[in-house]
Amino acid sequence: MRILKAKDYLEMSRKAANLIAAQVILKPDCVLGLATGSTPIGLYQQLIQGYQQGNLDFSQVKTANLDEYKGLTRENDQSYYYFMHQNLFKSINVKEENTNIPDGTVADSANECARYDEIIRTLGGVDLQLLGLGHNGHIGFNEPADSFAKGTHCVDLTKSTIEANKRFFASADDVPRQAYTMGIQTIMNARKILVVVNGEAKADIVQKAFFGPVTPQVPASILQFHPDVTLVGDEAALSKIN
Ligand code: F6R
Repeated sequence: MRILKAKDYLEMSRKAANLIAAQVILKPDCVLGLATGSTPIGLYQQLIQGYQQGNLDFSQVKTANLDEYKGLTRENDQSYYYFMHQNLFKSINVKEENTNIPDGTVADSANECARYDEIIRTLGGVDLQLLGLGHNGHIGFNEPADSFAKGTHCVDLTKSTIEANKRFFASADDVPRQAYTMGIQTIMNARKILVVVNGEAKADIVQKAFFGPVTPQVPASILQFHPDVTLVGDEAALSKIN
């Protein structure tokens, strides 16, 4: 694992965006696995700047997002579809038909999960998967569990995730209780993985996930077994691993 330390959020965002930019430049038709949440917003802004300055071309890039709340429509401003369009897609030249996000409106979980896994398979797998890290060690919406989930599946969100995400909703009651997420195997199959973390509140889980025992109770710990992981964090998030 490579660890890149940044002095603050902006530098973390720049370093991570540079790694994604390198992927897009080296393989213009690459498949990027994308994440939502607060952490990647700054790096998406950097990618937008790279595009606006004429340094990056997303016209052949394909994307596959990690997850989506079950039950939210695309128009819902808390859906991950909406997030991706607001924070990245609408400001770069990626083609709408080349972007993929699980469809939260499909009630039949088995169908939607199989459809999404088939999309990733047809794309030829993910070249570079971007991940944020949940406070409980979740990646995507793979919550602490007794075993590692494989492909895309429907999860019941834990209390701690509902708590962490309620800041985006009117109240905790409005946070959806379920989500579709790529599985751990899908994530591990990505050829490269880029994890971004910032802030002191992530310091303990960064230590546990990357230097503690590998266990499904800390889903991100499985990344220790991936051959090409880069962790980019600010000083605060990386403060407990030196
Ligand atoms: C988002 C996702 C989540 C977040 C994680 C960290 O698509 O899959 O695993 O990456 O919850 O979220 P932030 O960045 O808001 O701390």
